[in-house]
Amino acid sequence: MEIIIQPDRESASLLAAAKIARLVREKPHAVLGLATGGSPLDVYGELVRLHREGRADFAYVTTFNLDEYLGLPGAHPASYRHFMQEHLFRHINIPSGNTHIPEGLTEDVPEACKQYEEAIRQAGGIDLQLLGIGTDGHIGFNEPSSSLASRTRIKSLTEQTQQDNRRFFQPGEHVPRHVITMGVGTIMEAREIVLLAFGANKAEAVAATVEGPITASVPASILQMHPAAKIILDEEAAGELKRADYYRSVFASKPAWQQI
Ligand code: GLP
Repeated sequence: MEIIIQPDRESASLLAAAKIARLVREKPHAVLGLATGGSPLDVYGELVRLHREGRADFAYVTTFNLDEYLGLPGAHPASYRHFMQEHLFRHINIPSGNTHIPEGLTEDVPEACKQYEEAIRQAGGIDLQLLGIGTDGHIGFNEPSSSLASRTRIKSLTEQTQQDNRRFFQPGEHVPRHVITMGVGTIMEAREIVLLAFGANKAEAVAATVEGPITASVPASILQMHPAAKIILDEEAAGELKRADYYRSVFASKPAWQQI
């Protein structure tokens, strides 16, 4: 795992966006794994800017999102399909048929999950998976106790996660309890992983992920076993790391080409 501590969310997001843009330049048919939530927002903003400047072409890119709420139509403002349309897809030149998000209205959940896994396989696997992290250490919607070998499936959200995500819903609106999410095992098959975490409320989950034991109680901790995972943090999210100075010095001593 590489731990990259940046002064703030903006510089951290620019770094992650530069990495994605470079991948897409080097491999125009790249397969990206994408995330929703607040953490990747500035990354998507920067990718849109790079696209408008002619520095990022998504014509041949394929994407797979991590997760979706069950029971929400794609047009619902809190659905992850809607989130991705608003924050990324409608601003870049990706063909809509190349964008995949689990189907929130499916009537056959096991079949939809199987097909999602199959679609990832047929696309050749995910080159780079972008992740956020829940305050309880979840990745995608793999809540604590999720099997570290799990595949795409239905999950029930914890009270905490429902509360954390309430801000994306109208006041008084019900936050769905059930979701479809890529499994931890699915995520671990991505060739590269970039996890973003910002703010003091993520510091505890980040410390457990990076410096704690590998455990299903902190699903993100399995990233310790990934051969190419970068954890990109702002100072606040890095606030509880014991070896923060070491991580800073490793990154600072890298030549520029190695920093992304
Ligand atoms: C949700 C998403 C996760 C995301 C997490 C953190 O639960 N399913 O993929 O990483 O929230 O969200 P935020 O970035 O808004 O803190």
